Amino acid sequence: MNRKELNATAYKMMAPGKGLLAMDESNPTCNKRFAKIGIPQTEAARRDWRELIVTTPHLAESISGAILYDETIRQNTKDGTPIINAISDAGIIPGIKVDMGAKPMAGYPGEKVTEGLDGLRDRLQEYARLGARFAKWRAVIEIGAGIPSRACIEANAHALARYAALCQEAGLVPIVEPEVLMDGSHDLKHCFDVTLEVLRTVFSQLYQQGVMLEGMILKPNMVIPGSDCPDQATVAEVAVATVNCLLQAVPAAVAGIAFLSGGQAGELASAHLNSMHVQFGARLPWPLTFSFARAIQQPAMDIWHGKAANVSIAQQALNHRAKCNQAARRGEYSSEMEMMLKDQFSKQAIMTSITLFVSSGLLT
Ligand code: 13P
Repeated sequence: MNRKELNATAYKMMAPGKGLLAMDESNPTCNKRFAKIGIPQTEAARRDWRELIVTTPHLAESISGAILYDETIRQNTKDGTPIINAISDAGIIPGIKVDMGAKPMAGYPGEKVTEGLDGLRDRLQEYARLGARFAKWRAVIEIGAGIPSRACIEANAHALARYAALCQEAGLVPIVEPEVLMDGSHDLKHCFDVTLEVLRTVFSQLYQQGVMLEGMILKPNMVIPGSDCPDQATVAEVAVATVNCLLQAVPAAVAGIAFLSGGQAGELASAHLNSMHVQFGARLPWPLTFSFARAIQQPAMDIWHGKAANVSIAQQALNHRAKCNQAARRGEYSSEMEMMLKDQFSKQAIMTSITLFVSSGLLT
């Protein structure tokens, strides 16, 4: 294990004012999101979408690293450039999702354990050869009647730590993602308790398996009431509960923490991250940033709709969300900023539509 190199990569991934972009949806997940808005579920469409993302002008100003899926790391842009090269050339560090998905756990109905350890050493070596510098593994913990069980938490924590140790051996920085899902009617305190137990179990396993904390990144959920809970929390309450939970479970040596969005609306995810920085600021022992997928991609995907004519406007929407999260990471995000950028964005969108209309020859 090259400790210095791992630490240097993790440090770059957590660069001040930047965060990570998750664009590693598996084919079934990506297809599901395309189907919802009528985009064809083909390899070409998935390639076009990922090309749109990685060629977004100025993205590297707010995004330090991008997490890819196996299909994407092997694809080329339309002009024949490997997508992974397009990312590196843009100044963004490429990473790769390496788990094989959360599967039903034998003997524990309603719970899941993430698979993918078999053959992982060889796959990691291949990904490193292809140019990946970091990896991601997601475990899923659901809150419900009588769940999560200790068995589910321990099995997932064990797999996360085994994966992380193998990544560091291969020279890749592991992103360790134990996600406590937002689905359900549990309250804020219940999410806090489960998240705390999960994180403590994960760090105990990471310690047992000799994972270097300075060369890994934690990707947790925020502490939020379940989406069906009648007693929703304020932005400030979520921020306080989340940071207090992390402070009690995550050693200060960890290179950084980058949140998943978990299905929160983009603006709310930004507001939560912002509030953590406003309320805790310099008291945070680790860099605290974002590693969102839906909360960055969704508005842009809605605009794109699979149409080449919409690429530029969709890229502006993507950059807009990335910039809002950059501001949130600095504790400088505000709804005014959101409105101002949106305003500027819609003016540009109107101008682009007029240009497209004129160049289509419909207006003479
Ligand atoms: P969301 O931000 O959409 O939750 O996705 C993050 C992620 O990478 C899930 O593994």
